[in-house]
Amino acid sequence: MELTLANLSKVYVRKEHRMSIKTFGRPEITKKAALCDVSFTLSEGLYGLLGPNGAGKSTLMKITAGILRPDEGTVLWNGQEISSLGKKYRSILGFMPQQQGLYSGFTGKRFLDYMCALKEIPSAQTKEEIRRVAEIVHLLPELNKRLENYSGGMKQRILLASALLGNPRLLILDEPTAGLDPRERVSLRLQLKELSKDRIVLVATHVVSDVETVADEILVLKEGQLVEKGSVDELKARFHGAKSIEDIYLQLFGEEKPVDI
Ligand SMILES: Nc1ncnc2c1ncn2[C@@H]1O[C@H](COP(=O)(O)OP(=O)(O)OP(=O)(O)O)[C@@H](O)[C@H]1O
Ligand SMILES: [Mg+2]
Repeated sequence: MELTLANLSKVYVRKEHRMSIKTFGRPEITKKAALCDVSFTLSEGLYGLLGPNGAGKSTLMKITAGILRPDEGTVLWNGQEISSLGKKYRSILGFMPQQQGLYSGFTGKRFLDYMCALKEIPSAQTKEEIRRVAEIVHLLPELNKRLENYSGGMKQRILLASALLGNPRLLILDEPTAGLDPRERVSLRLQLKELSKDRIVLVATHVVSDVETVADEILVLKEGQLVEKGSVDELKARFHGAKSIEDIYLQLFGEEKPVDI
């Protein structure tokens, strides 16, 4: 099992429709390089993707999930380009995006049922599959409630459950712990560790403690570039005197300065 990202680059081009003397009244074009020549290979295990706001984590994940095209580079699953895998990639991949609208009128069960259909899980298996994933995220007793009545953390957990449908070999989770209470956070950490034994789990997070004790490797993105990749021990050795990943993060990105009011 191998996921390879080869020389990925992405620039967002945006037209700003504000008048500017500089552009003689024409829309201003702004370009933002979100990823610059990112390459790495992952095999079975749990990987934590760290980096500050705007570092390119979500861009990297969307490209890896095949929902955003890179300007350059390719994503390979076991040596095959994901674009050539087509529908098959959908059964290999479970993706939890950072932001996703939910059909608020749906119950949790109806939502997962709908996601099973999108993933083309045979209807004879859906009941058992919904039960399995709902149990993992502790939502089994809440499945008949409408999503509009779910708390923020429950919404987050149903999205995670949906990513787990079909038992995909590759899990890409963009900030899965956002909004989770400490108990659910710990539970998720342990679940992900367990799941990573026979699949690739890539998790983007701002919460270093989500991955520090469980990740096989930490990857750090800085302004669209991969600046670090290695086990926690390897990174500590590389950053002399670092006691924790948080230390390393602060060395890379600087301590936040207090704001003068
Ligand atoms: N659709 C878009 N159009 C234009 N610029 C974008 C778009 N999406 C992201 N960007 C820009 O690309 C850069 C990388 O964004 P991205 O969302 O990948 O970062 P991130 O590491 O996921 O950040 P966060 O921690 O806030 O989720 C940022 O500067 C962002 O403003
Ligand atoms: Mg993001």
